[in-house]
Amino acid sequence: MDVLKAIRTRISESQLTGEVDDATIAKLIQEAAIWAPNHHHTEPWHFMVLKGKARERVGLAWAEASAREIPVDGAAREKYISKESQKLLRAPVIIIVSQRVSGGPVQVEEDHAAVSAAVQNLLLAAHGMGLGTRWRTGKMAYHPEMAKILDLPEDLKIIAFVYLGQPTLTDTSDRHRNLDGVIEWKVE
Ligand SMILES: Cc1cc2nc3c(=O)[nH]c(=O)nc-3n(C[C@H](O)[C@H](O)[C@H](O)COP(=O)(O)O)c2cc1C
Repeated sequence: MDVLKAIRTRISESQLTGEVDDATIAKLIQEAAIWAPNHHHTEPWHFMVLKGKARERVGLAWAEASAREIPVDGAAREKYISKESQKLLRAPVIIIVSQRVSGGPVQVEEDHAAVSAAVQNLLLAAHGMGLGTRWRTGKMAYHPEMAKILDLPEDLKIIAFVYLGQPTLTDTSDRHRNLDGVIEWKVE
């Protein structure tokens, strides 16, 4: 697919279905994500793939941890856990993309930019291969309990939960961006 067309027609999917084989997942990471621009070649990225029952296990552990922090018990707690634990089941594959945080503040910021670029490479490559994605973060990504559940080393910071699967949205024409004031030209 032409690059501009891929950029323009990629869309954040809410519900992803089907399966994605391991070779395709590896290809998205090895042939797209890690080719992002990266100042000083620090290669600050880390990819964890959650599939199958791992999504259920992590989802349930997260839901229970999250429920401990809010004032619910009894049936309401069970309902909350049941709903929260479904979140990772919205796609057959979740790629958790993290930044290895090291160096001074400039490196940290630039590495964050590089990992974000890696995520976008991944989203676009997946779209070009006919797959659907959604970049998600939210409480799940930033809560220290999630890092523990995933056994992530302390120097890894989650940048994205990339939900990946077969797309369900076909019409991407209603995506909208405001063009007013986006470009400031200076010619003299
Ligand atoms: C850093 C970042 C965090 C995001 N977190 C979430 C999220 O937690 N939940 C969600 O539904 N979408 C999330 N998104 C997706 C955006 O909501 C989505 O890209 C936006 O609505 C524009 O839609 P489009 O990607 O289809 O153009 C995130 C995107 C970025 C870049």
